[in-house]
Amino acid sequence: MARLTINGKTTEVNVNPSTPLLWAIREQVGLTGTKYGCGVAQCGACTVHIDGKAVRSCIMPVAAAEGKQITTIEGLASGGTLHKVQQAWVDNEVPQCGYCQAGMIMAVAALLKDKPKPTDADIDGTITNICRCGTFQQVREAIHAAAKA
Ligand code: FES
Ligand code: FES
Repeated sequence: MARLTINGKTTEVNVNPSTPLLWAIREQVGLTGTKYGCGVAQCGACTVHIDGKAVRSCIMPVAAAEGKQITTIEGLASGGTLHKVQQAWVDNEVPQCGYCQAGMIMAVAALLKDKPKPTDADIDGTITNICRCGTFQQVREAIHAAAKA
């Protein structure tokens, strides 16, 4: 059993403490926006925020997330208003199949919090998420658009 605070709501999850946070989020709490891609911290599809930092939830044990503020893609918008990264994604028509996009958006939101005006080098160094549809150029354009918003 573990107590997790996800998107401001505290929930008890009935899992082994070593279970990856990703599976608690998806299968216990039912928030399926966070995706499984590789399971070995390589693709970024599972990215969530832990205390505001981007974390790949497929390799983080549930026990390490207890007592921390977890934010998933479902909790990124504020009330009825999209986060500026989400709005830039809509405006720049970034997604193709969409599978990687929740993780990509969470990684970018954390980047902009740390570096409000990232350079291309900052983006290349930080946004290492993999998109099999090849949306990388649109992602870059949308990051710069979000930085100006
Ligand atoms: S599923 Fe976590 S990084 Fe790929
Ligand atoms: S939009 Fe399809 S994998 Fe990225």
